Amino acid sequence: MIHDPEALVGYAERPSYRAGDRVELKVSSSGTTACRLVRLRHGDTNPAGPGLLQDVVGDVSTFAGTQQSLRPGSYLVSSAVPLTPESDRWSMTAWVWPTLATAETAIMSVGDTDRWVALVWNEAGALGVNVGSTPGGVHTAWTAVQLRARRWQLVTLTVDHRSGIHSIRVYDAGEVVDAPINDLSIELMTATVEVLTAARHSADGPTAFFNGKIEAPALWGGAITRETLARFAEADEVPGTALYGLDFAKAQSEVVISESVNARDARMINMATRGVTGRRWAGQVESWAAAPELYAAIHFHDDDLGDAGWQTSCTITLPPDAESGIYAAWLTCGDYEDWVTFIVTRPVGRAPKRLAVLIPTLTYLAYANEPIFQPHIPMFHDRRDDFTDRHALVSQYNWHTDGSGVVFASWRRPMLNLRPDYRYWLTGHPHGPGLDLYLLHWLDEQGLDYDLISDHQLHDGGVQLLEDYPVLLTGAHPEYWTVPMLDALDEFQSSGGRLGYLGGNGLAGVVGIHPVEPHVSEMRRRGNGVGLWDADPGESHLVSDGNLGGTTRHHALRGRELIGVDIVGMGFAEARPYIRTDDGRDARVEFVFAGVDETIIGDFGLHMGGAVGYEVDSADKRSGTPPHALVIASCDTIPPNYVQTEQRGVSRADMVFFETPAGGAVFSTSSITWTGSLSHDDGRNAISRITRNVIDRFLDPTPFHYSRTLNGSEQR
Ligand SMILES: [Fe+2]
Repeated sequence: MIHDPEALVGYAERPSYRAGDRVELKVSSSGTTACRLVRLRHGDTNPAGPGLLQDVVGDVSTFAGTQQSLRPGSYLVSSAVPLTPESDRWSMTAWVWPTLATAETAIMSVGDTDRWVALVWNEAGALGVNVGSTPGGVHTAWTAVQLRARRWQLVTLTVDHRSGIHSIRVYDAGEVVDAPINDLSIELMTATVEVLTAARHSADGPTAFFNGKIEAPALWGGAITRETLARFAEADEVPGTALYGLDFAKAQSEVVISESVNARDARMINMATRGVTGRRWAGQVESWAAAPELYAAIHFHDDDLGDAGWQTSCTITLPPDAESGIYAAWLTCGDYEDWVTFIVTRPVGRAPKRLAVLIPTLTYLAYANEPIFQPHIPMFHDRRDDFTDRHALVSQYNWHTDGSGVVFASWRRPMLNLRPDYRYWLTGHPHGPGLDLYLLHWLDEQGLDYDLISDHQLHDGGVQLLEDYPVLLTGAHPEYWTVPMLDALDEFQSSGGRLGYLGGNGLAGVVGIHPVEPHVSEMRRRGNGVGLWDADPGESHLVSDGNLGGTTRHHALRGRELIGVDIVGMGFAEARPYIRTDDGRDARVEFVFAGVDETIIGDFGLHMGGAVGYEVDSADKRSGTPPHALVIASCDTIPPNYVQTEQRGVSRADMVFFETPAGGAVFSTSSITWTGSLSHDDGRNAISRITRNVIDRFLDPTPFHYSRTLNGSEQR
């Protein structure tokens, strides 16, 4: 079968469903398309392992495919705005902080798809007026008035229907520059108009998306002169009769702007970034929540994509008795196939299993559609990555076209790397679901029953979701956490819960889930020092919940306090084994190594060939690792081609164990490739044995003994 998203691709509306739920699938295809619900058992197609395994659940359904397209670009739309000119004149104003002009981008547009007038600027920095009418066509008149990139300027367009002489003016730091436009016919608007901010009208819908920040877009009756514009800019003196105006300062986690004049609603399309500094911000505060009036701007991007908005192509009803697992809608159309993966969790009312596995859906989302980017050298080329490039899709690892970091990631769009057989260009090995299927396949083979919990569910449900389970295992790459998730994990551990952290780069980044659009996650990168973007000054706080973004290192609950370790390095070409340490001979961890005689552990595996690789963590008792934690095995021969993220220069992976005060314990593997070693030699290997030993002991309710002495040993 062929994997070509141009021919067949789909997405579901959210990352996880409960057994019994209906899953609406949004699919783009041509011709009869078949859809089967499958439970994914194993993903990696590496011939040394079990290969791609899936169980078909239920019947096939078919539908007539339709091509559906992606329309990125964020903007605001207000409908039914009354336009009442004074003396046949009216004006638009907006504060703008433009970043990147293309051939033509629009600041504001008034009208409808038949007839409009828009204020636009181009790649030369020039401002102009774009008008469209049916049947007159579309015309742009450019002026010599320029906007400068990355500074706040107040711009206005006055439309004078009587004289036919319109004018563009810009206020920039005490000066007003202007130009007349007298060779453009602008037809009188109807009594009510649609107002677009950051885009203009066209016969095919909104287009010419703006890059940069806009504050206080408004319409006024009458003309705005040089003098009134200057007084408006300098003294907030109203320049005319207010016809329309938006205030972005308040309700920053809403997508409908309700603080407005004469606009019943202003709906944001495609998730532009709020919680960004406005024209009055000069470093007074660090968070939008502390002084919203300093954050009265919105940053728009021509490649924002908050919701692809495709039509539902088919619906799957999950069987009410479906076991929890990673499932997919397996789509086929002619020679093409695609999988739309999602997590199925336990329905309300069904008895829980004793083992819960946290599936890192926020990390899946963070990496979703990460295109091949410099300076990395791809190890593998999956043609599905071409779709990402061709459609300019971006992930939270990337930059927008205007150079600003990608804050939002939406589940409601095709995500080509969330396929069971996907191989990551950086490593040439599975990523996301494929890594967690290693673990689930092994649990199935071991006869260990489990329920899955998605990050998104833990964020919503909190510790109550974990209370049913004595043992929680993480997936291979649980990198991104919301503050409510960290709190839930902390409470779980405080009440004696046992945690098996079976991955690497865990609990590293703090993200948010948008409260109004929960299919969207939010990231504000901050000081992560590995060549990724940093939030602009004053923009490190999440608009989703007001929390500081960045890494858990800057938070009250640091990753190292919860799992004993924190990310120190990442590399993409080779993996290594652990060496058992002297602490690994301590009686407290005898159970971990029962039946494991070797000192070199994990020099095998489907994922990069070893149990220590890709992203690895270390313990550090100076920065959060509990004092009594034992480093029971270590890899201190991390290859030199690994990028270090630890300022102290420690490059090591540490397998760590420690007890918690309420009789629980934590076992941390500190490596993403751990799960890829589980199935080696049909599960007859040290990584499998250690994992099984830990799970068996963690399932045993006998409390772990927590000592209050410094090193955990009892004083005699
Ligand atoms: Fe990572």
